[in-house]
Amino acid sequence: MNQLDQFLDNLQEQIFDEAREAMGEKGFDRWRNPRFAGKMENPDAHGRVVGTCGDTMEIFFKFENDQVKQGSYTTDGCGSSSVSGSFAVELSLGKSPDELADITGADVLSLIGRLPEADQHCASLAALTIQDAVTDYMNKSKTK
Ligand code: FES
Repeated sequence: MNQLDQFLDNLQEQIFDEAREAMGEKGFDRWRNPRFAGKMENPDAHGRVVGTCGDTMEIFFKFENDQVKQGSYTTDGCGSSSVSGSFAVELSLGKSPDELADITGADVLSLIGRLPEADQHCASLAALTIQDAVTDYMNKSKTK
């Protein structure tokens, strides 16, 4: 291994160590393997919220028997927002619109385990995006 490779390896290890420290093992794992990431074609519900930080999150749901059957998210935000979006979708699976409406940023955060103080609003952004998707679902149901 040449010196540059060695340097880059060390740098990456340092970044990973810092991320693991900041968001815990569970959050770190999800950051490395972001489940439910990506847009969804023809969702039954779509939420899109721009957070106060300027980052955008989108959440997509497909429902079956009035319960979330499938979900996915996208974000252009930080690593914590990606982890938050991923856990927010996980938390939503199997839930009815009423149950979704009760999901808060604290619920998302407690499923992750922890986030750095400065990134805790990312969990709230994920919860707000769920709420926006619920509103979309309700509006679409009314017009059916
Ligand atoms: Fe904006 Fe994380 S969502 S900093």
